[in-house]
This record gives sequence, C-alpha cells and structure tokens, in this order.
Amino acid sequence: MSSSDNKLSLLVCGGAGYIGSHMSRMLSDYGHEVTVFDNLSTGYADALKWGEFIKGDLRNPDDLDKALSSKKFDAVFHFSGLIVVSDSVQQPYQYYDNNVTGTLNLLRAMRNHDVKNFVFSSTAAVYGDPVMDIITEDHPLSPLNPYGRSKLYVEEILEDYAKAYNFNSVCFRYFNAAGAHPDALIGEAHKPETHLIPNILLSSIEKGRKLKIFGNDYPTPDGTCVRDYIHIQDICDAHLAAVDYLAKEQGAHIFNLGNGNGFSVLDVINAASEVTGRKIPYDFEPKRDGDSPRLVADSTKAHNLLGWTPKYDDLREIIETAYRWHKNPAY
Ligand code: UFG
Repeated sequence: MSSSDNKLSLLVCGGAGYIGSHMSRMLSDYGHEVTVFDNLSTGYADALKWGEFIKGDLRNPDDLDKALSSKKFDAVFHFSGLIVVSDSVQQPYQYYDNNVTGTLNLLRAMRNHDVKNFVFSSTAAVYGDPVMDIITEDHPLSPLNPYGRSKLYVEEILEDYAKAYNFNSVCFRYFNAAGAHPDALIGEAHKPETHLIPNILLSSIEKGRKLKIFGNDYPTPDGTCVRDYIHIQDICDAHLAAVDYLAKEQGAHIFNLGNGNGFSVLDVINAASEVTGRKIPYDFEPKRDGDSPRLVADSTKAHNLLGWTPKYDDLREIIETAYRWHKNPAY
C-alpha cells in the first residue's frame, strides 16, 4: 500500500468539511479513488466535488456498514468531529456522542469489513495548559475541555486497538489549521464562524463587523493567546505520508502537526492587515471558556518519521490563501 505507486481506495469521513474537502481533493488529484461519508450537518454539499458521496451519520451503525460495504478500502481518514471548544463546554453529551461513540461505531464497522488502517484527526487541545513553550508529543496530556478529552479518549482507544486487534492508526494532533486551497475553490466556512483567521478576514471585508478578541490578560507577551497556524495543504500532505507510513509501521502512532512558530491574536491581526491593506476593527472581550494561553508545536517527529515539512511557513502567505477564499466564498 504505497500512495505513490498504487491507486488506493480511501474513505474520507467528514469529506464535506474544511479539512476533509481539501483532503478529498488532494487524494483525487493524486489519482486515488475517494469515497466521502458525511451527514452534511456542518459540511457543505458544494464542497463535494471529489469522489463518490455517501450521506450518513457516524452515530448510525447501519449508515457505516453501508459505506464500508460499498468498496474494499485501503484506509479510512476520519475528519467528522465536532470542533468548537466553547460548545463542547456547554454541550458535552453531543461532543462525546459524536466524537467518541461515533468513532467507536466507525472502528467497529472497519473491523467488520477488515479495514485496518486509520488516520485520525486529533488536536493540540489534548495538551491543555502546556508546561513547555514548545510542545512535543510526550508532553503531559491534560485537556481543559470536553472537546480535547473526546479526542484523547479516541487516541487511547486506538492504542488498545493496536495491541488487541493489530489495528494500525496515525493520530495527528493538529495545532491551528488555517488557509485555503490556493485556487480558492474550497476554503474554511463554519456557521457561525468561530475561528480567528476567518473572523479577522470577515471583519476586514464586511462593513460594520468588528472582531472580538477573547481575553487580553493571558500570561503571554501581549496578553492575547498564542497559537501555531498550520496550512491546510500541509496538513493534507501529512495525511498522505501517514498512509505510506502505516504500510511499513504497524501500531498506533501520534504526531504533532504545526509550524513551530507562535503568533498572538494581535500578531495575526497585524499580519492580516498587511495582507488585506486594511485596518481590522476589534474590541477586547472576556476570555472564552476552555482556551489555552499558548499552544506551539514541535513537529520534529513528523519531520523525521514521515518526511513531512510544511511548505507554508510564513503566516502572511497562509492568510493570503484564506483571504482569496473569503473575498468570494463558494459556500
Ligand atoms: N479568537 C478571538 N476571536 C475570535 C476567534 C478566536 O480572539 O473571533 C482567539 C481565541 O480565543 C484563541 C485564538 O483566537 O485564542 C484562536 O482561536 P480559534 O477559535 O481560531 O482556534 P482554537 O485555538 O480555539 O481552536 C483550534 C481548533 C480546535 C483545536 C485547537 C487547538 O478549532 O479544534 O485549535 O489549538 F483544538
């Protein structure tokens, strides 16, 4: 199973969403056979331009059996997560039901259909409030919110699966996914929008819209939260490398995906002003529930073992691709 020599058949759960649609497109661009499974609750039908689409819900085992029976898949990518930290604090049941029970349903269906390779979207939120400036994968795990805990539980389940069932997996702990495909046919769109870069760009584009900055007394140089922004195409590159890695290395593997550079909310606003040529209006607001002051990755492990190096290492370039999309979004 090598992604460069063979045409692979891949199931992309959550392929109508932000990361899943970029992944489906990249796989299809490389000549692989893509099947998307999505319930369209937060994804977009207009993002389904690559591969066959099966509408279904992770919480419905019959939907999953139908999808897994449709072909013999070489691997499954799982992007179908609920991802809003503050919502997870308000609605833990929904987060555990979708992110943990839904994933267990998917794993059960994969075993029933003898599919043993799995690439899972985890998160930097598993680290909680970091005790190191730059976070390696062996940093203590102490998520601050149900979202982060839901992802950590799945990571632990995957370790148990590797030992008991010879089930192979890669978990990627994404730092802050950002940007859009450079041709801007697909991009980042959440309703309501909660993510920083889209909100900054919308405040720059929409007249009268003002950005809310959540918290200005964090223990960071300018008091706003620091994050590590990693381009969506770089994230997808890592997933492709993961499929090749799983062909050689059995077991459950975990990798950080980030650029290793920390930017505060105010840094991102300044970079976006340079890109758009406009001032971004903002107000300071109280802190959001469950936000960590600083999350910056050490991705040396992905570099060494997957041969992965992010191509977008300049924040302005990342924002530029997002801006191209936000100026004229297709959905
Ligand atoms: N922020 C604002 N105003 C906004 C939106 C965000 O000030 O309108 C701030 C947040 O408080 C935070 C930073 O900008 O400090 C980044 O916020 P995002 O919502 O863009 O991203 P998060 O860091 O909260 O969450 C993202 C993913 C999660 C993942 C996490 C790990 O959405 O899935 O990164 O770092 F877990």
